[in-house]
Amino acid sequence: MWGICSRTMGKMGMAMPCGWIKPCHLVKPVSATRVSGRYLSHQKGLPSLPIPPLQQTCERYLTALEPIVEADELKHTEQLVDEFQKPGGVGERLQRSLEKRAHNKENWLSEWWVQVAYLDYRLPVVVHSSPGLVLPRMNFHDKQGQMRFAAKLIAGVLDFKTMIDNETLPVEYLGGKPLCMNQYYEVLSSCRIPGVKRDAIVNHAKSSRPPKHITVVHNFQFFALDVYNSDGTALTADQLYSQLERICSSALQTDTEPIGILTTQHRDSWGKAYVNLMKDKTNKESLLAIQRSIFTVCLDGAMPRGSDDSYRSSAAVQMLHGGGSQWNSANRWFDKTLQFIIGEDGTCGANYEHAPAEGPPIVALIDHVVEYTNRKKPETVPTPMVPLPMPDRLHFNITPEIKKDIEEAKQSMNILAQDLDVRVMVFSHFGKNVPKTHKMSPDAFIQMALQLAYYRLYQRCCATYESASLRMFRLGRTDTIRSASSASAAFVKAFDDPSRQNTEKVDLMEKAVKAHRSYTTVAVSGQAIDRHLLGLKMQAVEEKLSIPEVFKDSAYAKALNYQLSTSQVPSKTDCVMCFGPVVTNGYGVCYNPMENHINFAVSSFNACKETNTAHLAKAVEGALTDMRTLLEQTPKAKL
Ligand code: COA
Repeated sequence: MWGICSRTMGKMGMAMPCGWIKPCHLVKPVSATRVSGRYLSHQKGLPSLPIPPLQQTCERYLTALEPIVEADELKHTEQLVDEFQKPGGVGERLQRSLEKRAHNKENWLSEWWVQVAYLDYRLPVVVHSSPGLVLPRMNFHDKQGQMRFAAKLIAGVLDFKTMIDNETLPVEYLGGKPLCMNQYYEVLSSCRIPGVKRDAIVNHAKSSRPPKHITVVHNFQFFALDVYNSDGTALTADQLYSQLERICSSALQTDTEPIGILTTQHRDSWGKAYVNLMKDKTNKESLLAIQRSIFTVCLDGAMPRGSDDSYRSSAAVQMLHGGGSQWNSANRWFDKTLQFIIGEDGTCGANYEHAPAEGPPIVALIDHVVEYTNRKKPETVPTPMVPLPMPDRLHFNITPEIKKDIEEAKQSMNILAQDLDVRVMVFSHFGKNVPKTHKMSPDAFIQMALQLAYYRLYQRCCATYESASLRMFRLGRTDTIRSASSASAAFVKAFDDPSRQNTEKVDLMEKAVKAHRSYTTVAVSGQAIDRHLLGLKMQAVEEKLSIPEVFKDSAYAKALNYQLSTSQVPSKTDCVMCFGPVVTNGYGVCYNPMENHINFAVSSFNACKETNTAHLAKAVEGALTDMRTLLEQTPKAKL
């Protein structure tokens, strides 16, 4: 994740150990045993991720530093870059090795990427890595409504799963080019496994006996619920409803040890606790049942709610971390790739573990589920009369040591919950329509508004991450669009300067938007700088060479210190994804531009005195409206 999708590399990039261990290929490409012709032939037709020319990346790197480092710092970096890329230098050697790697792999980056950006990342996945997704409030207000909706939602996910299983998912396109569909095969029946130093991912969809159950968690108690009849058909929503009723009535007591809270811990601590847990046979069986399950449904208890205005913000808290140990943070298994979260008050959303996939496939699945739950048509399939087995309660034997781990996890989760300030802002003045009218890319327009908002608050530009999809390439994940550019800096500096003419400001805005759009095109076609630089560094580690000076430079650290970590996650549903900042003094900003409005989720840490979520949200609103006003008050003809 940064920006999500590896916004964490801001930290990781600096902290990456020199003694890099060769990745153990835990995330395998889709195995040929499960998938047949259609999927494989689509995948085979996709191009491989290219390796950009060394000189191009070096030049673009220096250009990217211009708005975020001082002139003398940049001079020093220019010398390091010259040394790095000189003929016969270490840069050329690493480039050749990378090219060799690319020749031998389906994707030269993807295994490294999952390892570095996710599995080696040791901060809790909660807030620091796993995004939440807030859906519009649904029309139910009690437990019965909660179970009815959950039953429909499960049926909707199983409906989507049929398309995955039958390989009938429509291929997606970006800019007219077909996209890699692999991530869809990674999000169901998969789970992250904590390790003492490094995590892993397992995907049971690829096993010879793929799982037939989901996990349901209620009152911190876990259940395995079979969602297929013995004839292989999926349970109907009515059947699921009665099974959920059975679960809820057997999970009434509230004095259970909140085992799920362990998954909110720092990964090293959770890794150690996990080793202890697994020593017990019952625990092991329960953990395997959760890991193997297709997905998790969290039937949440009440949450503190404020006014209707702040509803979406409190729902974002619920989706991101559950509100702390006294609320719903333990009603989760945060290692599970996909968790659907349903409250009794109509709240609905999801949380997903980021290692296997980016937001867009998750949102596409959720769009389908929302559409499915809204279908008016009554079910035509008659519900079989065969009695269903009671869902299995998953038992845990809690030793005093595990009890201590749980207490520690509660404490750190509560500190994190207190620290995170997340707010959802619905910008209702306009959406994609206005930039389109002015012949500008809406995404670039929004990014320039973020630059302006940040500049207005801090009178400087900061390294900014925006996720760019690399799915045009086989097994592609993301690269970074560096939104702070020389053009954006010129625009934001001029915007509030009374000595500048409006025509000049519009001209600078157009140039900044164009520069952003053109970096986007560069990034989605695999020619951006960040993953290439990472690859060169990783290659040095792999070859046990000393890390080149260019990566030890303070400018490189600044370039990766993303004080604005941003991502567009569009959807059909009126929802918004949310995630935490990736540096202690930064912001996380996720947005969903709809035609006539834009949903934003902004976050920062309360412990940092320099940042303030409400101030940034307000500044973004102001920047967007001021940019439109400027465009409207400066007719094109006058330019
Ligand atoms: N004039 C008029 N319309 C324009 C325009 C212009 N100059 N430029 C773009 N548009 C239109 C597009 O045609 C498109 O139309 P649509 O709404 O009918 O689809 C729309 O505006 C949006 O285009 P744009 O705002 O430029 O963004 P995009 O859709 O190309 O997306 C990224 C840009 C970077 C978000 C996308 O390329 C990407 O990489 N997405 C994945 C990000 C990701 O993985 N996020 C999740 C991380 S977990």
